[in-house]
Amino acid sequence: MRHFLIDTDTASDDAVALLMALREPSVRVEAITVVAGNCPLEIGVKNALISIEKAGTYAPPVYAGMAQPLLRELLTGEHVHGQDGLGNQDLPYPALEKQSGHAVDMIIEMARRFPGELEIIALGPLTNLAMAILKEPALPDMIKRVYIMGGGGLGPGNITPVAEFNFYVDAEAAHLVIQSKLVKIVIGYDVCLEETFINPSDITHLNSLGSLGEFVVRSVKTVIEYHKSLGKDGFGLPDPTAVAVALYPDIVTKQFDAYGYVEYKSEKAYGQFIIDQLQVTGNPPNVTAITEINARKFKEKLFQLLS
Ligand code: RIB
Ligand code: CA
Repeated sequence: MRHFLIDTDTASDDAVALLMALREPSVRVEAITVVAGNCPLEIGVKNALISIEKAGTYAPPVYAGMAQPLLRELLTGEHVHGQDGLGNQDLPYPALEKQSGHAVDMIIEMARRFPGELEIIALGPLTNLAMAILKEPALPDMIKRVYIMGGGGLGPGNITPVAEFNFYVDAEAAHLVIQSKLVKIVIGYDVCLEETFINPSDITHLNSLGSLGEFVVRSVKTVIEYHKSLGKDGFGLPDPTAVAVALYPDIVTKQFDAYGYVEYKSEKAYGQFIIDQLQVTGNPPNVTAITEINARKFKEKLFQLLS
């Protein structure tokens, strides 16, 4: 049995990612830690609890983490995900409650509980994970690997021309994590833009799956409007893409090891994730970059887990 901890800034695509992980019987989500990003922290906690209830399988403990980036003011993503992070459904607070204990401490605690076995999937800004590394410098040696949804991969930024949202919200934290000794698999925003993009016929299919599919479509309502404003019909699912890579490694069709680094000093390029694809820096690889997955298999798994 694989043991996962999911760190998330729980908005719409994060919620879909949590549904997938919680409904995949071959793995166990041991804990969910929440970080401020798409939403202010408390809304992220509420949405994580809602996602657990909707998944209808089991309820891992949920822990609140960092409410602000390490140094910068928090930038949230209501313009993409809605005021409530879930397409402005304004759902009631769930019966489930978060656990006491800080997410940073619980990341360390879970790594100790599953020495060498814990796999982390990071779906938001890396503030919690960076703080855990600062608090427990041995953490990278205790964790099996980390899957990170972040950076633009080999494509454009989505919050500035060169920076992707998760790395832009807290570039200092992203720098700390990327430069750490963690085994890092990075899934960039570019992977969710092309074939894996959820098109209108996929949306029709989601609605035909029943209550979970309908919940997903309602949750991404604002994301659909955001993409429409950019002239695209449908929506991307970056976090579910990262979860699918973690759960089903055989869907990866293109990857390479490279030296990657995060720009955190420049104002114009703040948050940019630079991948030294041609090894011109001479630095040893510190990430595995995922640049393409089998979109058909991804959508099959997504629909199967939501059925
Ligand atoms: O840039 C995409 C990422 O930012 C996703 O994780 C999305 O949920 C937002 O957090
Ligand atoms: Ca996210």
